[in-house]
Amino acid sequence: MINNNGLLLGGNEKGQVIMNAAMANRHGLIAGATGTGKTVTLQILAEGFSRLGVPVFMADVKGDLSGLSKPAKPHAKIDERVNKIKITDYQARQYPTVFWDLFGDQGHPFRTTISELGPLLLSSLLELNDTQTGILYSAFRIADDNEWLVLDLKDLRSMLTWMGNNAKELKSEYGNLSNASIGAIQRRLLVLEEQRAEYFFGEPAADIEDLMKTDFSGNGVISIMDVTKLISNSPRLYATFLLWLLSELFEELPEVGDADRPKLVFFFDEAHLLFDQAPRPLLDKVEQVVRLIRSKGVGIYFISQSPLDIPEDVLGQLGLRIQHALRAFTPKDRKAIKAVADNFRPNPQLDTRQVITELGIGEALVSTLDAKGSPTIVEKVLIRPPESQMGPISANERKELIKRSPFNGKYDEAVDRESAYEMLKRRALKVAQEAAREKDQKTSTSKKRSSTRQSWSEAMIKSAARSIGTSLGREGGKFLRGILGSFLRTK
Ligand SMILES: Nc1ncnc2c1ncn2[C@@H]1O[C@H](COP(=O)(O)OP(=O)(O)OP(=O)(O)O)[C@@H](O)[C@H]1O
Ligand SMILES: [Mg+2]
Repeated sequence: MINNNGLLLGGNEKGQVIMNAAMANRHGLIAGATGTGKTVTLQILAEGFSRLGVPVFMADVKGDLSGLSKPAKPHAKIDERVNKIKITDYQARQYPTVFWDLFGDQGHPFRTTISELGPLLLSSLLELNDTQTGILYSAFRIADDNEWLVLDLKDLRSMLTWMGNNAKELKSEYGNLSNASIGAIQRRLLVLEEQRAEYFFGEPAADIEDLMKTDFSGNGVISIMDVTKLISNSPRLYATFLLWLLSELFEELPEVGDADRPKLVFFFDEAHLLFDQAPRPLLDKVEQVVRLIRSKGVGIYFISQSPLDIPEDVLGQLGLRIQHALRAFTPKDRKAIKAVADNFRPNPQLDTRQVITELGIGEALVSTLDAKGSPTIVEKVLIRPPESQMGPISANERKELIKRSPFNGKYDEAVDRESAYEMLKRRALKVAQEAAREKDQKTSTSKKRSSTRQSWSEAMIKSAARSIGTSLGREGGKFLRGILGSFLRTK
């Protein structure tokens, strides 16, 4: 059974080391110092899953995963590994890949809306304090109570302005909405805009079904999200985006129970960014998602230099361990080595602590889960060579692939909705103006506030128009499910 349901990781003098795909939703960790072979290991895992028909999502931190779309160049070192590991079916080939990029530069844009992101992730992204977080939750509740749609940063900003202007009236129901705190949130939003986040918030919003495709031959499509710029410009947005995606998968996918292979695997590079500054409530949710998403058939693989970057309660849930070499320069290094070694199921023939520092490039200590889900004893393994190219493809090759992608046009181009939106906005504006005129005639006391009313009504009209224009079927409740009791987004 394991033969047609296994993923060859590599081999040693005892034979080949194979991972059972039925255990792939039990998650994993790939760790190791710089240049020890983590990315190539990621690559061979992605290839293996793709061959089994499992779609893969991966964040590309250095741009070097694009090589998956091109066959490996023949090389003596590859032949050497193929022979050592006794791979009989090695075949240089390309894998089906789709490129994504939150900013739309290196791939199709990948967007979501403020509502979809929800207050928990948003307050963490904005690094809000407790008071400000409270106000953000109020904003979501107000939007929810009034069925207002908050799609992009501009929607949120106009909403906050309105809340500030109407703080007195809102106080009894939503508590203290201090202008100072609202101002602080507004400034945070500006910082976010400077990081080009407005590109990420909006429509057409990404459909996660598009990350779960197979090609004509039944190979899982590998979605590669370019995050080279994102990681350096705004690491928090990177972490937030991936968390949002996880929560989205968690919410959207049905329970599957035990299957012979996962529905999707998700590679989370530079995983320390996820945990570094995350507030406690968020960390708790992450831990929960990791634990529960398994039953949805999603496997999560963290990649990090040191396993100590991963909180213990998450670490404890990671079935596959691939540990590349670690350096033993500082006391902290040695502490990490000890922790890693002690976490493996010991192999009497292997001095794990010693071996970790001596591993060659593309060599690792590996422990998988057996058919019963217990960790296997740790083995030293020569990792198999990839069938696709190691290192990036050229900018032109990438352009060509993006052009030929099945999603070309779906997310990149301005959508026909634009026209509906403009039309509805104009029409709705007219209705609002008439209403305002009527009101002015009836009473003169509202004069003072009419300007704020106007700008808010504009924002509402815009949102309403957008919601009509959106084709994602977000009626009422579903749209705002983020605060109506969904998983990551509720307190
Ligand atoms: N399994 C392998 N088969 C063949 N070559 C390998 C393998 N693993 C690593 N290599 C070689 O080692 C080089 C470095 O590996 P890789 O880029 O995966 O390291 P890394 O740990 O991701 O480094 P960084 O931390 O800098 O991202 C590769 O470019 C490749 O030449
Ligand atoms: Mg790397």
